[in-house]
Amino acid sequence: MQPALTSPSRAAVRVASLAMLPAIASAGLVGGIVTPSVAAESIQVSVDPSRAGAKIDRNIFGQFAEHLGHGIYEGVWVGPDSRIPNTRGIRNDVVAALKALKVPNVRWPGGCFADEYHWRKGIGPADERVVTLNPNWGGVIEPNSFGTHEFMDFLDQIGAEAFVSVNVGSGTPQEAAEWLEYLTTEQPTALAKERAANGHPAPYKVAYLGIGNESWDCGGNMTPAYYLSQLGIYSRFVRNFSQEQRQDKHRMLKIAVGPGGDGPRWTEWTEAVMKTWQDRTWSFDFDGLSLHNYTVVKWPPAYQSTSFGEAEYSQILKSTLEMDRIIATHSAIMDKYDPQKKVALVVDEWGAWYAPLPGTDPGFLVQQNSLRDAILAALNLNVFVRHADRVRGANIAQMVNVLQAMVMTDGEKMLLTPSYHAFRMYVPFQDASFVPVTYDAGRYAHGEISLPRVDVIAAKDAAGKLWLAVTNLDANRSVEAEVSLTGVTARSAVGETLTAASVDSVNSFEAPHSVVPKPISAEARGGRVVLKLEPKSVTVVSLGH
Ligand code: AHR
Repeated sequence: MQPALTSPSRAAVRVASLAMLPAIASAGLVGGIVTPSVAAESIQVSVDPSRAGAKIDRNIFGQFAEHLGHGIYEGVWVGPDSRIPNTRGIRNDVVAALKALKVPNVRWPGGCFADEYHWRKGIGPADERVVTLNPNWGGVIEPNSFGTHEFMDFLDQIGAEAFVSVNVGSGTPQEAAEWLEYLTTEQPTALAKERAANGHPAPYKVAYLGIGNESWDCGGNMTPAYYLSQLGIYSRFVRNFSQEQRQDKHRMLKIAVGPGGDGPRWTEWTEAVMKTWQDRTWSFDFDGLSLHNYTVVKWPPAYQSTSFGEAEYSQILKSTLEMDRIIATHSAIMDKYDPQKKVALVVDEWGAWYAPLPGTDPGFLVQQNSLRDAILAALNLNVFVRHADRVRGANIAQMVNVLQAMVMTDGEKMLLTPSYHAFRMYVPFQDASFVPVTYDAGRYAHGEISLPRVDVIAAKDAAGKLWLAVTNLDANRSVEAEVSLTGVTARSAVGETLTAASVDSVNSFEAPHSVVPKPISAEARGGRVVLKLEPKSVTVVSLGH
């Protein structure tokens, strides 16, 4: 739960990811190095499809669902007897919405909740589930109606993989090991038979195993040395028993707790974990290092999620762009110990964290989601894409009804947030290859804040189709992006653009379609496709050539 630190004096100049430098060394201005002091009304964007680089792991589009407020209960789980249409207790409307996002994985059950979660309370007949409390989040009743089987059913319904966070805080290695045996073993052990008796004879697959959550804070206030001793034990004993997955021992990726932002405390944490990885023995291994970094500006979260102006818009965007530097800092440390980039950086909690909406339980972390959040989402996704060789997973916090949500529910009503639309527009980037882009970003200034005016990424998908995502951060001025391709002639651009009346426009239950994408297309003139980008917009197009 750490704020993203913002240095007010730091010029908001983006640089190409260090990780990409070898591939782009001769490409000139790549990734948006800012040059002019006077913003032009047109920008030149040059895409070189012959230089496709690192794969953009689809897992950077992961989601996070914690037992927190209405993130699970009401948001996902309504129970089989609900009047809200559901399949085995899971909301049909939410499932349909999430399917369109092609969610690669869902991190569950927390968050801080995971640090105190005891999985046995969430299995067995519904009417015999143990009722507990959720001390982290409002101290409310936790009915444990949504447990292991319900989570796996939900994943099956939306077509996502499991990212299970085990309890290193108040749990034991044995408890976690037994959970994984219960989940993954095919052999007729007592735990496998219990799983079958509970309705699932076939073993489940677990793609990611989070070994602890924020162990430096809500996960047990551990020092790096103490956490590393726990990591050694858990990484040894919490096994994946799936025969199919065990053909490849890295198929279930083990994620170690990593830093919670920037500053010496966090670089020391990364140093300690990565040094241990470098010095590891045969029986100690992990595949990923987690990073948590929220856009919050100051702690406790004070920015409003509704009814704000350009000052708050530009400040939040400035803060969110810090993600690039924070990733670069931790990546550089990882490079020292792991130059081959075997260990992934997994940003498994990120997003905007604002003041709770008035009238809501502050422990439920309810906030609205505006056009600003869609732009914020696109900017962060662009950062992850530029660091694709190291960042191979990310989970926005959180999927439903909590923080920067994809969907919000109110009884039987459901709405798609602006962030949802940004994620849906970015689906073509899943597992595509990073393609370098050269452009002059220009500047967008508001008061003391100066930001790049545009932010651009490109990728080539498996079918060879080229995709371009352009965010116009400028709240007031449209921009014409003149897009050309190196080596081939650009012919057209077809896609969608997302903007709205103002930076704080939201989708509400009364007006759920205020912020929705609309089609955009352009034909080439003289080998250049001119895209007219509205102020404060996110645009994703495929480029025909
Ligand atoms: O996403 C809300 C909380 O933020 C998570 O439970 C915790 O891991 C982080 O501090």
